[in-house]
Amino acid sequence: MSYHNLTIGLIGGGNMARALVRGLLQAGHPAQHICIAEPDAGQRELVAALDPGLVLDANNTPVAQNAAVLVLAIKPQVLPAVAIALGDQRRPAGQLVMSVAAGITLGSLTGWLGTGTPLVRVMPNQPATIGAGVSALAASGSVDAAGRQLAEYVAGTTGRALWLPDETMMDAVTAVSGSGPAYFYLLMEHMERAAIDLGLPPDLAAALTRETALGAARVVVETHTEPGALRAAVTSPGGTTAAALRVFEQADLAGIVQQALTAARERSAELGKQGS
Ligand SMILES: NC(=O)c1ccc[n+]([C@@H]2O[C@H](COP(=O)([O-])OP(=O)(O)OC[C@H]3O[C@@H](n4cnc5c(N)ncnc54)[C@H](OP(=O)(O)O)[C@@H]3O)[C@@H](O)[C@H]2O)c1
Repeated sequence: MSYHNLTIGLIGGGNMARALVRGLLQAGHPAQHICIAEPDAGQRELVAALDPGLVLDANNTPVAQNAAVLVLAIKPQVLPAVAIALGDQRRPAGQLVMSVAAGITLGSLTGWLGTGTPLVRVMPNQPATIGAGVSALAASGSVDAAGRQLAEYVAGTTGRALWLPDETMMDAVTAVSGSGPAYFYLLMEHMERAAIDLGLPPDLAAALTRETALGAARVVVETHTEPGALRAAVTSPGGTTAAALRVFEQADLAGIVQQALTAARERSAELGKQGS
C-alpha cells in the first residue's frame, strides 16, 4: 500500500525530525506532502536544505490542520504545552499522532489530545539519521490495524520498526536501543585509545577499530548467528582473544553492563514521571 498521497506533518524540525524527513524522502514520499513546523529560523533552514519542495511553517497550527499523520518531534519538556494546544485545535478526523519524545506516556498524550486520538509512541535511536535506526513502537487502544501499518511506514523510513507487546517496556527499550549507540561508541573510543597505547598510529587505530565494529555487527545481522556462538568461534583455548576476554570477565563486564542498563532504565522512568 502506498502512503505517498498522505500529508505527514512534523512538529519540531530538530535532529530526529530531520532524520524522519530524510527517511521519508528516501522512501519516495513527495516533499510537498511533508510539512514541518519549527519556530527557529536557523533550524527551518536546515530542514529546507533537505529538499526545496518541503512545506515549512513557523507555527504548529497549519501543519496540524492538514496532516493525516502528525509526528511530535520536540523535546519532552516542551511537549505538554504543545500537546495541550493541539488538543484544543481542530485537526483532521482520525489523524494519527506519533510521539518520539522520551518518557512521555500514551496516557499523558491521551489526556492532552483527547481519548479519541489514535496515538503511537516511538523510541527511535541516533542511527536513524542515516536510515540505520531501530525504533520501538507502542500504540494506544484507539489505533486500528491500518493505523499500525501507517505508523510502521513512517517509523520504518529511518530503519527497522518493531512493535512492543506492552508500553511498560519502553523504559527498558530506552536503556537498550535508545541509549545503546553511546555504549558501542564508548567501547570504540576505549579500543582506539588502547590501540594507540599499544603503539599503533592514531589513524590506523581508528580504522582498525571502526572496521572491526562494523564487520562484527554485520556478521551478527547477516549470518543470523548468536553473538555468543560467534565469540566462541573466534576464541581458541589459550589464544590471544581468550587472554583479552579473561580480563573483561575478571572485571565483571557482564555485571557492569547489567548495572549500566538498569541505571538507564531507572533514569528513563524518572524522566517519564517528571514529564507526565
Ligand atoms: N536525537 C535522538 O537520537 C533521539 C532518540 C530518541 C528519541 N528522541 C526524541 O526526539 C525528540 C526530539 O529530539 P531531537 O534530538 O530531535 O531534539 P532537537 O534537535 O532539540 O529538536 C527539537 C526541535 O523542536 C523545536 N521546537 C521547540 N519548541 C517547539 C514548538 N513549540 N513547536 C515546534 N517546534 C518546537 C526546537 O526548536 P528550538 O531549537 O528553537 O528549541 C528544535 O528544533 C525528543 O523528544 C527526544 O526525546 C531523540
